[in-house]
Amino acid sequence: MGHEEAKTVALNPEAFSSAVSAHLQLPNGLDGEEHARWRGLVDSYLGPERVRAAEPEFARTAAEIVAGLRPGTVEAVMGLGASFAVRGMLRWLGWPEDLAGELVQWVKDNQAATRSGDRDATAEVARRYDAIVRGVVEPRRARPRAYQDVTAELARDRSLGRELSVEELVSVLRNWTAGDLGSMAACVGVIAYGLANHTELQDRLSQAVSDEEYEAILNELLRIDDPFVSNRRKATRPALLGGDEIAAGEVIHVHWTGANRDPRTFESPDEPRPSENAPENLVWGIGPHACPGRGLSLMELRVFFRALLGRFAIAAGTHGTRASYPVGGWESLEITLKERS
Ligand code: HEM
Repeated sequence: MGHEEAKTVALNPEAFSSAVSAHLQLPNGLDGEEHARWRGLVDSYLGPERVRAAEPEFARTAAEIVAGLRPGTVEAVMGLGASFAVRGMLRWLGWPEDLAGELVQWVKDNQAATRSGDRDATAEVARRYDAIVRGVVEPRRARPRAYQDVTAELARDRSLGRELSVEELVSVLRNWTAGDLGSMAACVGVIAYGLANHTELQDRLSQAVSDEEYEAILNELLRIDDPFVSNRRKATRPALLGGDEIAAGEVIHVHWTGANRDPRTFESPDEPRPSENAPENLVWGIGPHACPGRGLSLMELRVFFRALLGRFAIAAGTHGTRASYPVGGWESLEITLKERS
């Protein structure tokens, strides 16, 4: 599936439904008006004001991680990316910080289970995650006034005309955390690799560039090697897609990584051209299900790389193992940090 087909599918939810899973997936497994209602609730926690308010805490986490680094080799995905993503997310949601070790381990196990394609292993890690989230949600549901954090706010939320059930809370929070901790870690790996191989971009980011320009460069490095590989849709009626006949009921994968490297859309897919390629960049998806966490994620990545590049240069020459489908980017990536003089 190329860029045009990915857009066609994502922009036509009546023909390509998101209701592909038997599990409760809020809001991503919903269609139409029900999706719009849940999406409104999710968006109210992830808008620009919220992102601005969360930035100092994420910057503090990034500064702590960078302060603990020494010049030399470091592993970028699980070593840097996952620990930043997990610690930042715990603070943002108000979850106990001592969950960090368990969650980093969970991100690793989840990726291994996803890679293996073993349904039992995937179901087991999913159950483990739900138990972690329940452990956080239940005390907040029982004593809502005792907690002043984003999770407690969600537990008290009545914007849908009633409180969310524990199952619904777990589903919403799973979406904000489970998939995205792994994606964030993968994004750190992909960007570190891109910067090691494009010293001109690293030089640019080490100057006083605006947040907008900074994020445009990160977005373009993610386009080149999009680690958030694909999402599923189910055809509601027969369709013709890129010359292929799709039957009603058929499940197809919108392949964001492939779309973002389609040479019919991006003349030189490997070459970073931030402003030129921005309009067609599909790293965050498109249409009604486009990522509501885009602003939060880009802020997290920006504060992390500002902290890292503020102290170190990433040397050319990396060693790594590619992740395998359906996980994208690098499974592990060794980068070399050189202290700036
Ligand atoms: C870190 C990198 C991330 C990437 C590359 C990414 C990418 C995406 C993409 C491509 C979609 C579209 C899915 C579709 O069309 O079916 C999506 C959906 C979604 N993302 Fe992200 N995401 C990231 C992080 C986050 C974060 C941090 C959050 C929340 C805090 C988040 C929350 C969601 C939710 C709730 C949806 C479903 C939206 C809906 O169905 O309306 N994402 N994401």
